Amino acid sequence: MANIPFLCHDDAVGEHFLNGISMTDSQLDSCGKKSSFPTYVTKPFLPPLKEFIPYLEDIWNTRVLTNRGIYHTKLEEELCKYLGVNYISICSSATTGLLIALKALEIDKEVITTPYSFVATAHSLLWSGIKPVFVDVDPVTLNINPLMIEEAITTKTSAILAVHCYGTPCDVAKIKEIASRRGLKVIYDAAHAFGVESNGGSILNHGDLSIVSFHSTKVFNTLEGGAIISPDIKSKAYIDKLLNFGFEDDTSVISLGLNGKMSEVNAALGLLQLKSIKNIIKKRSIIDALYRQRISAIQGISCLQTSRAWSSNYAYFPIFVESEYPLSRDELYEKLKRLGIHTRKYFYPLITSFPMYKQFSSSNVTNHPVAAKLAAEVLCLPIFPELSTKRVIEICKMIAEFQVNPVED
Ligand SMILES: Cc1ncc(COP(=O)(O)O)c(C=O)c1O
Repeated sequence: MANIPFLCHDDAVGEHFLNGISMTDSQLDSCGKKSSFPTYVTKPFLPPLKEFIPYLEDIWNTRVLTNRGIYHTKLEEELCKYLGVNYISICSSATTGLLIALKALEIDKEVITTPYSFVATAHSLLWSGIKPVFVDVDPVTLNINPLMIEEAITTKTSAILAVHCYGTPCDVAKIKEIASRRGLKVIYDAAHAFGVESNGGSILNHGDLSIVSFHSTKVFNTLEGGAIISPDIKSKAYIDKLLNFGFEDDTSVISLGLNGKMSEVNAALGLLQLKSIKNIIKKRSIIDALYRQRISAIQGISCLQTSRAWSSNYAYFPIFVESEYPLSRDELYEKLKRLGIHTRKYFYPLITSFPMYKQFSSSNVTNHPVAAKLAAEVLCLPIFPELSTKRVIEICKMIAEFQVNPVED
């Protein structure tokens, strides 16, 4: 077993640093710290509980629990300001947001999308009775490859559902050009892209609609939640109705909506979370920079490229475990896990390999070799505001140590 300086737990919790001690996995078990204080891929940010109590007291007093209460309205206003968007409809999750977006734009038949995403992207299509047509991704951005979109368009294609994977912006200009020329709608699954800016403006302003997630694992969370970003007031007004069963007023239902509303408790938490968002992103950026600095020295491991053309929210830290590294991605995942570092194989397996998608001809792996390679190589390392720089350095040292000494003990 390699000599790995190992911290038995998150030093956000305490300081028991076993610096430089050579430990086997079983020794780590017997020290009893490894399993007690693992480091997970993320740890949701929460404000101090005492700061949230006044919001709860207010909700308890007013008994306005949901149905577009004061916190709901206020969160929408504040999000518009923070994100630099004009019209936003907060909702119960990004998955609900995707379903509502497809309904609002009357998307049907076939939609071109990516196999390299969280399964909710494609599920929103199948739930809506739409056939997903999977095309390959770009090896640098990991986003849907515009060249492949063009080839997959048929007379049945109604839209493109693209994902800003890990928060990296899609080639929005090229996608817009194709969509306008071929008469298609564009929906962006921007679940990962809260606060990402491209060419000076929010990435959420692109496409016919964009959907962002406020799930607990995201950069900005309301426990569960999401939002749809609309280009105009008319779209927002219609989407708000769809999120409330399709009610126009007390007695008329004008469309087949559903219950996608966000509760007042979630919205109030969102308002409080928003006060910390700059700090959250700053802390994430420090971790990202440290990983990049340390990982770049390890042969066979590379990082996702960034660019000056856009600003990141540092939502994820994916690494690519390449053939020059002595361990496979899965072996590295297992070794880190035994040392208490719980990484995630986002996005493995590809959506196309799940049983409900296998039937489609576009799900054939020969159709998306780049996505298949990524699914075998990518590992997302822990990144969250409370993650200490010490722990990041330890994780990098472990990965570097396995490089020179990969042998199982
Ligand atoms: C790309 C993508 N789309 C959609 C979703 C669904 O988001 P939610 O959990 O808010 O429904 C996720 C969740 O992680 C995601 O990663």
